[in-house]
Amino acid sequence: MLIAANFKSFHTRKSTKKYIKKLEKFIAQNHISDEICVIPPFSALRKSDTISIAAGNLYPAFEGSYTGEITLSQLNEFEISNVLIGHSERREILNETREFIVQKFEFAKETDLRVIYCIGEPFEVREKGFEAVKEYLLEQFDGIDTNYENLIIAYEPIWAIGTGLSATKEQINEVLYMLKTHFNKKLLYGGSVNDKNSEEILSIPSCDGLLIGSYSLKVENLCKIIEISKRIQDVNEG
Ligand code: PGA
Repeated sequence: MLIAANFKSFHTRKSTKKYIKKLEKFIAQNHISDEICVIPPFSALRKSDTISIAAGNLYPAFEGSYTGEITLSQLNEFEISNVLIGHSERREILNETREFIVQKFEFAKETDLRVIYCIGEPFEVREKGFEAVKEYLLEQFDGIDTNYENLIIAYEPIWAIGTGLSATKEQINEVLYMLKTHFNKKLLYGGSVNDKNSEEILSIPSCDGLLIGSYSLKVENLCKIIEISKRIQDVNEG
């Protein structure tokens, strides 16, 4: 499983350092075999031996005159090899177009970054039922090379992000199964994941992990989810 904590624009350099230190200790003491990923704000990027660190965004260039943006040369300094692309907050609040997202994806692919590509439907589409959701989600792959071996897909229904209203097990199962059948890639679910719903989501056969926002902001909470995932695996292994 891959358990990822998306800090968005929360946490500082100081609080991230504290968080990561606690998390590293927890991972070592509990013999955690899941991959744990933290996506801090850029000012708090750091290296870790046991945690994968990902960037929440990337301007598609090695360096250049892109005031206020972060490019690959800055990520390289922290040995960051994972990047989130297409998060709905960037698509919606920052008005990222599909063309720009494809450009970012292409750049990440050319430079061998591992991409967590986020897709998700708005509530109006969800209301129309699964076929409409399927069509909407598949359109988000236009221009994306789904054969890229370092591609992970995160399904995050927009209406479930930060709302406290997670998609149901059936809804997640239906979408992840469809995505697995189409692309056979590692699949994450995100959208109001917490300690109450993570067990049933992690038990979905096509689910390979979680992308957690608000609930993961406290390291104790992330550790709870990691424990839940470990427990499921221990039971499965008998
Ligand atoms: P949430 O965010 O867990 O707060 O819903 C998830 C995300 O945006 O990745």
